[in-house]
Amino acid sequence: APTVLETIAATRDFVRAAHAAGQRVALVPTMGALHDGHLALVARGRELADVVIVSIFVNPLQFGPNEDFERYPRTLGADLAVLAGRADAVFAPVVAEMYPGGASQTTVHAGPVAERYEGASRPGHFDGMLTVVSKLLNIVQPDVALFGQKDAQQAFLVTQLVADLNLPVVIEAVPTVRESDGLALSSRNRYLSSDERMLALTLSAALEAARQASVMPADDRVAAARSAGLARFDQQPDVRLDYLVIVDPATFLPLEDDATGDALILVAARVGATRLIDNAPLHF
Ligand code: PAJ
Repeated sequence: APTVLETIAATRDFVRAAHAAGQRVALVPTMGALHDGHLALVARGRELADVVIVSIFVNPLQFGPNEDFERYPRTLGADLAVLAGRADAVFAPVVAEMYPGGASQTTVHAGPVAERYEGASRPGHFDGMLTVVSKLLNIVQPDVALFGQKDAQQAFLVTQLVADLNLPVVIEAVPTVRESDGLALSSRNRYLSSDERMLALTLSAALEAARQASVMPADDRVAAARSAGLARFDQQPDVRLDYLVIVDPATFLPLEDDATGDALILVAARVGATRLIDNAPLHF
């Protein structure tokens, strides 16, 4: 079983010993309720480093007042069991260890891209996320940290944080792990009833429809891809679309209709009370 580290001091000691032995350290930050998506990050960490540390912390700072912080699944026992033989250590602090005396006074501001898409629907979310990621990177001081492409805007903002603040860590993005029917794995999928589980496929189906449209010969392929994605939501009024946008992966700004090159299509929608996101690469 992985070593369980509950304090910042014990974590620093653990990593100091690894580094002193010449080992490379990978960090996989998570909020727990681990699934195969998280495990893909752990496996990639194992390829890139000698020691893999998974952090499990449901970060109150990145949840809005009407979001699911209280009911977010907490399954530490099962998480530790699934990490046996995969991770070397788990950093699982209580909230007071990370935020003694309540919330952080000093926070990281994510910048303009964080106002868009996820950030428009979840004000303050990315500041809270980057604040805890900064703390985790400073506590663990890993050589490499792994993030899922599933949360593409998050991975972009973490990469931007590390570049802007010159943090000495390599950020590695790992492709999205999906169920065989296309649904992207998410800790929030467990909120879905079986009817909602079916409706949730609208997100990945829209991405696939957009991809198919994007490879058809036309002189407005960006607009055609967007329309093809949106059409899936028109057919499914029980899935409430939040946004569907095609962005430039280098800037995360909306892609011009006449643009060429790599692109990313992002989608967010609500199924019942559950908010889901997904994305896929495109090429124009
Ligand atoms: P969490 O939602 O637990 O996700 C932890 C990591 O797993 C993130 O980098 C996320 O992108 C990745 N991940 C989730 N589902 C995935 C999938 N289907 N395929 C591949 N990777 C997947 O994201 C967070 O936690 C938090 O915001 C955190 C970064 C830990 C900061 O609190």
